Amino acid sequence: MSKDYQEFIIQVRKKTNIDLALYKEAQMKRRLTSLYEKKGYSSFQEYFQAMNRSSEVLHEFLDRMTINVSEFYRNKQRWDVLENKILPRLLSENKRLKIWSAASSTGEEPYTLAMILSKYLPLSSISIFATDIDENAIQKAKNGIYPDRSLNEVPEEMKRKFFIQNGTYYQISEEIKKTVTFKRHNLLAEPFDSNYDLIVCRNVLIYFTEDAKDLLYHKFNKALREGGTLFVGSTEQIFNPPSYNFMIEDTFFYKKV
Ligand SMILES: C[S@@+](CC[C@H](N)C(=O)[O-])C[C@H]1O[C@@H](n2cnc3c(N)ncnc32)[C@H](O)[C@@H]1O
Repeated sequence: MSKDYQEFIIQVRKKTNIDLALYKEAQMKRRLTSLYEKKGYSSFQEYFQAMNRSSEVLHEFLDRMTINVSEFYRNKQRWDVLENKILPRLLSENKRLKIWSAASSTGEEPYTLAMILSKYLPLSSISIFATDIDENAIQKAKNGIYPDRSLNEVPEEMKRKFFIQNGTYYQISEEIKKTVTFKRHNLLAEPFDSNYDLIVCRNVLIYFTEDAKDLLYHKFNKALREGGTLFVGSTEQIFNPPSYNFMIEDTFFYKKV
């Protein structure tokens, strides 16, 4: 690792408590280098000094390193498996489910969960905990306004029921909003709650190093109740699930044994 980047990692950790060393190096470095070069800086050191001077530069850095892309019903077939196979089992074991959407970005994922759960439960008895490291993303999630392209996979029935259209934008309904509690949380630095029936953590582990992922799989396992399920993203298969005390319940679903 270059000295310049190494030093930057230490400085950023001190300033923000974000440990870039736990993110895949080549990818993160490329993304940040292209950002600072565009801004006219020539090294990570110079860039860090600018971050120290200007909160705008700091926010832009946070924005770039987090990658908030999301959409409702992302990889729809997997959500169908959740709806038709995983949730019926979980609900047969427990009437009130404890659910965590980890790295929930701008809210599409926890709101998708709420819409699917509404097929089984009254909205008033649904409660989803949703967290992300990025306060901006959380604010957008709370606002609940989305461009039409992020609704491509939303079934017509759900669109009619739970969104209000305003031009090319859609506002998620208040009753869905009320089912989700958002909070800032750094997966790589903060403790996890326990006794979850379902943890959804998708499309963030791909950015982490193998060591960080390894640690997180153990922590997710510990955070689930026995029989609880971890739902991961569609490029994030766990290699050797039994070594984390998981069994494959379906593709991208891991059940704690
Ligand atoms: C690509 S989005 C995934 C959103 C959603 N889960 C999905 O699959 O559509 C990745 C999210 O991970 C968040 N993130 C990155 N590092 C994180 C960390 N250490 N702790 C918590 N969230 C993190 C980013 O802020 C971003 O919102």
